[in-house]
Amino acid sequence: MLRTPLCKTFGIEWPIFTAPMGPVTGPELAAAVSHAGGLGIMSFGGNPPPVLRENIRRLRSLTDRPFGINVLLRGPHLPFPVEAVIDLCLEEQVPVLSTFWGDPTPYVARAHAAGVKVIHQIGSVADAQRAAQAGVDAIVAQGLEAGGHVAGEVTTMALLPRTVDAIAPRPVIAAGGIADARGLVAALALGAQAIMIGTRLIATPEAYAHPVYKQKILAATEDQTVRTTLFGHGWPDAPHRTLRTPFVERWLPEEARGSEQRPDEPRIGETRIGGQPVPLLRFMGFPPTPDASGDIESMDFLAGQSVGLVQEIKPAADVVRELVEGAQRLLSQLAARD
Ligand SMILES: Cc1cc2nc3c(=O)[nH]c(=O)nc-3n(C[C@H](O)[C@H](O)[C@H](O)COP(=O)(O)O)c2cc1C
Repeated sequence: MLRTPLCKTFGIEWPIFTAPMGPVTGPELAAAVSHAGGLGIMSFGGNPPPVLRENIRRLRSLTDRPFGINVLLRGPHLPFPVEAVIDLCLEEQVPVLSTFWGDPTPYVARAHAAGVKVIHQIGSVADAQRAAQAGVDAIVAQGLEAGGHVAGEVTTMALLPRTVDAIAPRPVIAAGGIADARGLVAALALGAQAIMIGTRLIATPEAYAHPVYKQKILAATEDQTVRTTLFGHGWPDAPHRTLRTPFVERWLPEEARGSEQRPDEPRIGETRIGGQPVPLLRFMGFPPTPDASGDIESMDFLAGQSVGLVQEIKPAADVVRELVEGAQRLLSQLAARD
């Protein structure tokens, strides 16, 4: 009952996608979700093309199932052109190219010519229509409650059916606020052909998130996130949903400060990108990975409102299995009701 036409198109067993989550979604998490029958997506993670190539090869060594690579089209400042990342993905013939924050139009025909499917995440019906016109294979409709950078102003419940209607028969994948089987069934009922889950998967052993980050995800409730531009150093004026930590509460009254990108902001720690040490200045929007050191509490704990539903760290395969089994049970129960 759960399988949708999109499952066939993308060669997957279950309509469940990993949300790309920057450095948190490395090869291990993506492979675990693909291996469990969903579609794992690894973020390019700010990595330069040679490092990304290594990561793609590692992901391929971990699973022979389809997977995706996510690229932010005009997101954070990068020391190399985003085109180089896309060229690499096409050269490597990754099964799916996932894009966000920008216009996918220039890349769709080239991707298709290379045998690569394209999915693009949007936050409004107008953007969905533009991406559909560009010929993408599926649209990810991201609601306001989503974690990470948030493209629009409309909740999943309202955006999803409108997007489905606007671009039918092209398939829509629902993102934002979904963390359990109830959310999966609701998304299908609203017309989605799959879900994309992020926040839930941070609390897995495979997620490349700092232990403090995982603990914060378990402890937080749905009212403890905020959509802000505070962590704007390196990617200014881009709204993102993050946990309301004491650091965030302290600076919210001066939210605009983060996007000023002052070079003299204090250094709060260090991390590694592509194997290289990178200093972290205050307000840099880089969620803490196991490589992060320093003042972890002042870093960017990106998370969505679904965080309230996340209470246990468990393997990604268990998350996928519980979503599938729970949704099947729920659908049978609903069908059996008088
Ligand atoms: C920690 C984190 C990092 C994210 N980074 C990215 C990213 O690099 N690229 C992207 O397309 N979306 C990113 N997102 C947004 C997700 O694609 C997706 O919209 C969101 O996770 C769905 O909401 P949920 O977290 O409630 O499941 C990120 C989300 C989170 C939680």
